Amino acid sequence: MENMVNLFSGVYEGKKVLVTGHTGFKGSWICYWLEKMGAKVIGYSLPAPTDPSHFDSLELNIKSIIGDITDEEKLNKVFKEHQPEVVFHLAAQPLVRLSYKTPIETYTTNVIGSMKVYEACRNCKSVKSIISITTDKVYENHEWEWGYREIDRLGGKDPYSSSKAAMEIMSDSYRTSFFNINDFEKTHDVLMSTVRAGNVIGGGDWAVDRLVPDIVKASANTETVTIRSPNSTRPWQHVLEPLSGYLLLGQKLIERKKEFSGAFNFGPSLSEDVSVKEVLLQMKKTWPKISYSIEEPKEKLYEANLLKLDCSKVEKRLNWTPVWGVEKALKYTTSWYQSYYENRAINTQLDLERYVSDAIKQNCPWTKDEK
Ligand SMILES: NC(=O)c1ccc[n+]([C@@H]2O[C@H](COP(=O)([O-])OP(=O)(O)OC[C@H]3O[C@@H](n4cnc5c(N)ncnc54)[C@H](O)[C@@H]3O)[C@@H](O)[C@H]2O)c1
Repeated sequence: MENMVNLFSGVYEGKKVLVTGHTGFKGSWICYWLEKMGAKVIGYSLPAPTDPSHFDSLELNIKSIIGDITDEEKLNKVFKEHQPEVVFHLAAQPLVRLSYKTPIETYTTNVIGSMKVYEACRNCKSVKSIISITTDKVYENHEWEWGYREIDRLGGKDPYSSSKAAMEIMSDSYRTSFFNINDFEKTHDVLMSTVRAGNVIGGGDWAVDRLVPDIVKASANTETVTIRSPNSTRPWQHVLEPLSGYLLLGQKLIERKKEFSGAFNFGPSLSEDVSVKEVLLQMKKTWPKISYSIEEPKEKLYEANLLKLDCSKVEKRLNWTPVWGVEKALKYTTSWYQSYYENRAINTQLDLERYVSDAIKQNCPWTKDEK
């Protein structure tokens, strides 16, 4: 096992880190990684949204608290009791199609819930760094072939995307009103960043209406999966890619570097975008059992077809680049599910080790102790 403790200059060792949404897909992976780096993790979230659940399978040695982010009283109590220093805020209603059915709940969780998390941070003096997770869908989408930059206009046609764009605007208002870098270390001690990543894949995601989970669930039952929008292009990346970016940004905030307060895109290089159909073909190479058919959707709900991120800002300022291309991301993700369904094996540790080992070979700055 790679020595995880020294990654990100060792800043997470012994650090009290509160993760909202820890029972979810991305939350469970970040908790796993934080735990391996010796962080004292406190999770705050509703119960795991899926069964099976990656979080439950991992049996992590963290403090797991079940609660709603819109429950101010409970949230404040948890912050007061555990006094976290760093907060990764991932709790959300993250599904586009569900947001059409439950727009009010989506907004309540994603905007008001996030605001309550920030208020809890404001009320708790131990909190110094906040990394708040939004999405690449926060941009007003023109379906064009260029990548969106952090300075591009926010928007969102569906309720999920617009709720996250609203969350970005609300976060920026907190960054101006309460966590302003001009007042940093004078009237407050908090640095806050928002992070925008695209469609992530990786083992342990069983959410509905997501391509990879839909494919593997069908394959496990020897069914043919029906695919809508085969030509849609997405910036696919392994879940560990944005997580290494979030953790690196977290490191900079922990190190009190106020120039890292702001919004940041984390995505694959532009040449890595592939269509839904290509994803299927590549997955089938690893797991030949996968069977699919393509059908036009009966219900035409708007979902962006072409969406790319420009990641020049993180490349230049954080020296962050992805470690795996889409091919490796798809290969390891497919193997994760294949091992799960065929042997009930959980390959999370194996994938994290492979990822860190490849990052070391590529001299990624977060693998070196830069203190
Ligand atoms: N998975 C992706 O492809 C993707 C892409 C872009 C952005 N994101 C963002 O990343 C974050 C995590 O997404 P995910 O894919 O892990 O989703 P997920 O559904 O697997 O996890 C969401 C988590 O939030 C929790 N949650 C939901 N409502 C809550 C509430 N009211 N109070 C407390 N907890 C609540 C759930 O219990 C779960 O732990 C979200 O903010 C999402 O918008 C995800």
